[in-house]
Amino acid sequence: MPLVSMRQLLDEAAKGGYGVGAFNVNNMEQIQAIMEAARETKSPVIIQASRGARSYSQDRFLYHLMVAATELYPEIPVAMHQDHGNSVATCKSAIEQGFTSVMMDGSLMEDGKTPSSFEYNVKVTREVVELAHAKGVTVEGEIGTLGGIEDGHGAGGSGLEHLTDPDQAAEFVRQTGLDALAIAIGTSHGAYKFSSKPTGETLKMDRLIEIHKKLPGVHLVMHGSSSVPKDLQDVINQYGGKLKPTWGVPVEEIQLGIKNGVRKVNVDTDNRLAMTGAVRRVLAEQPEKFDPRDYMKPARDAMKKVVAQRMVQFGQAGHAGDYQPLPLSEMAKWYK
Ligand code: G3H
Ligand code: 13P
Ligand code: ZN
Repeated sequence: MPLVSMRQLLDEAAKGGYGVGAFNVNNMEQIQAIMEAARETKSPVIIQASRGARSYSQDRFLYHLMVAATELYPEIPVAMHQDHGNSVATCKSAIEQGFTSVMMDGSLMEDGKTPSSFEYNVKVTREVVELAHAKGVTVEGEIGTLGGIEDGHGAGGSGLEHLTDPDQAAEFVRQTGLDALAIAIGTSHGAYKFSSKPTGETLKMDRLIEIHKKLPGVHLVMHGSSSVPKDLQDVINQYGGKLKPTWGVPVEEIQLGIKNGVRKVNVDTDNRLAMTGAVRRVLAEQPEKFDPRDYMKPARDAMKKVVAQRMVQFGQAGHAGDYQPLPLSEMAKWYK
């Protein structure tokens, strides 16, 4: 099956009451890990590439790896998504390169750091919606800004500075016509989210529930959703790493989000931790090894394990065969 529309994938998730993991990739092994996990758990999936990933791998490599994934795993619906597009031009080029979904993150200015105005956000998101929907491509927007900085992207801070205002979120959706809405409820990107174990109050789940009540038909997106499990931190530190103690988003909080309209769950850091731990282990235990396959294979296996676990926890497992994906040309007609 060809790469599919993220909108259709999320509409089906809403019908089934589950969430879909959106996993970041930069290379072949990460795509393979996700596809193997999807096959094992029979899950539809979103594979996403940041601007950093696109420049690291080059669009043509990424795109053809994704096409290979659809050929080798024809039973799995896969959407290819631009994560944190910083401008209309970035989203436009992603669409031209074959992405079936784009995020226009107009919550920040084009530098990917400075929080923007509501008017600016509406303007750029609306522009992307017009050009994307004409081609059947899905659009995710963001209102409120996340904390943390990944690869230069993010407003910094703890994640509590610019929480999403529910009324503004409703107005944003009305004025832009987007498909999925990323909200800020206190999560941040990267490994250092919380300096102690988060309690039920740390993340603003009440805020999420309020937004869902105002926008029951809108697919909500939770960024910064890595759980940063201690066992993955421990492997890294056991083999010479120097991670400081840190806590991520507990899976139960994500599951509460999924019960309240969250359909897309962004995870990158947990996979980075899993792969790095596996590589460190091989290089520390078998220092005579120098064939990259000797450490990339365990790294790929470690990532597959994390992804498969999340697919079960988010509820997407078992849903790969529920529906017949529509071609983007049909989605374009549907948007009209
Ligand atoms: O947005 C955050 C993701 O973890 C992507 O990170 O920009 O370093 O590729 P990156
Ligand atoms: P994590 O850093 O928590 O994995 O978040 C990833 C993300 O939100 C990508 O957009
Ligand atoms: Zn993000």
